[in-house]
Amino acid sequence: MGRAEPYLCVCEVRRGRAPDSMRPPSIQNLPSDEPAETPVVRAVEFIRRMRGASQPHLLRAQDGDYYVVKFSNNPQHSRILANEMLAGRLALLLDLPVRPPAFVEVAPELIAGNPEMEFEMAARHIPCAAGLQFGSGYPGQPGQFLVVDFLPDRLLRRAEDLAPVFAGALVFDKWTCNCDGRQMIFTRPAADENASYSPWMIDHGFCFNDGEWNFPDSPIRCLYPRRLVYESVRGFQSFEPYLSRVENLEARQVERCAEGIPDEWCGDEPGEIHRLLERLYQRRRRVRQALVDAKNSDLRPFPNWR
Ligand SMILES: Nc1ncnc2c1ncn2[C@@H]1O[C@H](COP(=O)(O)OP(=O)(O)O)[C@@H](O)[C@H]1O
Ligand SMILES: [Mg+2]
Repeated sequence: MGRAEPYLCVCEVRRGRAPDSMRPPSIQNLPSDEPAETPVVRAVEFIRRMRGASQPHLLRAQDGDYYVVKFSNNPQHSRILANEMLAGRLALLLDLPVRPPAFVEVAPELIAGNPEMEFEMAARHIPCAAGLQFGSGYPGQPGQFLVVDFLPDRLLRRAEDLAPVFAGALVFDKWTCNCDGRQMIFTRPAADENASYSPWMIDHGFCFNDGEWNFPDSPIRCLYPRRLVYESVRGFQSFEPYLSRVENLEARQVERCAEGIPDEWCGDEPGEIHRLLERLYQRRRRVRQALVDAKNSDLRPFPNWR
């Protein structure tokens, strides 16, 4: 894989929402089939460090948007950047509400001027790497929206499009064998306490089994721990339109989601990404059975699917 062309990386994904757009698209109202562009932006300001084992940092970019940035020398694995970009684009392709991915160019001067741009690893402090990094679009400007990782049941029940979003995320996670728990952020305008929350998919660093790029499937993997999100599942139709979209993908569409991913994000054997794409394509019609296996698992996650 070559390095991304500066400022534009065209990839045949469905056009997602703009980075500062706050509402997932309506499930019925599909965006056009035009190729979407993955932005390539330049980081201009360090804002703060985020929590998380990969120790991401919130940065402002020259386009005025903010990004949660994961660095190629993060404490986990360089492949989590490739995983984030590939998974983010695949999720957009399926029209799932994922925070939009971006390539973020980080200059050495920004790191030199911000001593906090480092990783803490045991007793060592290691500066973040300069160069092209992965960015996940932050909702609006910091402070404009309330952003939370978890909601109490009372508020979770009222989140927008709760059932289809979590059903779609499960289809996606089964397909990509997300070996981390499903993670969402929930957002609402900070000034409007009564507004309902919008769920957004984040953290795809462990899709394709982290740096392994294989698929250790298990019936109980990927289920969101708060089961109320699956209460309305009644059969395969509850996973539509996402299930059919995965099943009907073309190989070329999957391949294009890896375009521009730099070799440095792909570990010691970057060429393995081609095999990963092939296997993803081959697995697309196994998701249906994976859902049945989850249904029949000891966790019984879908009490209303009989
Ligand atoms: N696009 C985003 N917008 C807002 N907050 C985010 C975004 N991505 C991540 N975060 C926040 O940063 C934290 C760490 O990000 P995450 O992707 O989960 O990293 P890790 O892989 O280290 O767990 C999340 O728990 C969430 O609170
Ligand atoms: Mg996480």
